[in-house]
Amino acid sequence: MKIASRHLVAAFALLGLSGLAAPALAAGGAEHPPAQKWSFSGPFGTFDRAQLQRGFKVYREVCSSCHGLEKISFRNLSQPGGPGFTEGQVKTLAAEYKVKDGPNESGDMFERPGRPADRFPAPFPNAEAAKAANGGAVPPDFSVIAKARTYERGFPMWLIDIFTQYQEQGPDYIVALLNGYEVAPKGVTVEAGLHYNKYFPGNKIAMANPLVAVIDDNGKPNDPGFYTDGTPVTREQVARDLAAFLMWAAEPKLEERKHLGAKVMLWLLLLAGLLYFTKKRIWSRLEGAH
Ligand code: HEC
Repeated sequence: MKIASRHLVAAFALLGLSGLAAPALAAGGAEHPPAQKWSFSGPFGTFDRAQLQRGFKVYREVCSSCHGLEKISFRNLSQPGGPGFTEGQVKTLAAEYKVKDGPNESGDMFERPGRPADRFPAPFPNAEAAKAANGGAVPPDFSVIAKARTYERGFPMWLIDIFTQYQEQGPDYIVALLNGYEVAPKGVTVEAGLHYNKYFPGNKIAMANPLVAVIDDNGKPNDPGFYTDGTPVTREQVARDLAAFLMWAAEPKLEERKHLGAKVMLWLLLLAGLLYFTKKRIWSRLEGAH
């Protein structure tokens, strides 16, 4: 029994439940983010390419001036399991960025247009510069943020989550955070440079609502044609698209892992069946001898 349960744990670990082991956010009076429905959840989940492309647009046009994506190269955007940009599109995109290179023959560093193999350039030269530009708070890099942010779901959810393979706390939290800016309740003072957000641990965040660049305070898009694929530009939609993109960035091989996990489970099931019938056959002969 002990051995069997250990194998079960190993099988779950294989399916990527290790995400559950990530440290939880200190709740600090923050509300629980509502769970969202995602195309990439569950054992057969896949990303919605169009959604990843929209999310990338939001990242690039709204968040990238403060948040880096240092582990992602431009060419990742055209790899299988991702946003599905063509190699040509990625080449054009990379060339729009300036990348530091060098030294050249005279020993100087120089800037050149980006190439698909380059990583996304950082928005600030170092953490001090990032701090100075943001009132003392460093905007975290986005490469793994969708996996780095999680919170306690409490009993019985953590138990149910094992069976449903729920591992979308990160994107759920990001959507909630982007929709969580509110007027501070009476009796709560929000110091200068901070903003009240009901989902941020401690409720006071140094980042002003970034989505006002796309949607005004009344929920109206500043540019109704922001999305070229006809998707309605609502705060919820924009936040969801961005969060899906960040989930992909944090785990570009998510689809591959889930497909492998599903195949392994199917194979184990087949093997269990075969072993069962083999066992029956062998032991039936023995019983026959009695
Ligand atoms: C003007 C700079 C700026 C822009 C633009 C910006 N952010 Fe931030 N962001 C920050 C800063 C600063 C912090 C750190 C806040 C803190 O620790 O109080 C932060 C923190 C965050 C966090 C982490 C919150 C946590 O739990 O620690 C997330 C998620 C985030 N930003 C999402 C976004 C998204 C999504 C966008 C684009 C839609 C965006 N940000 C645009 C400055 C920015």
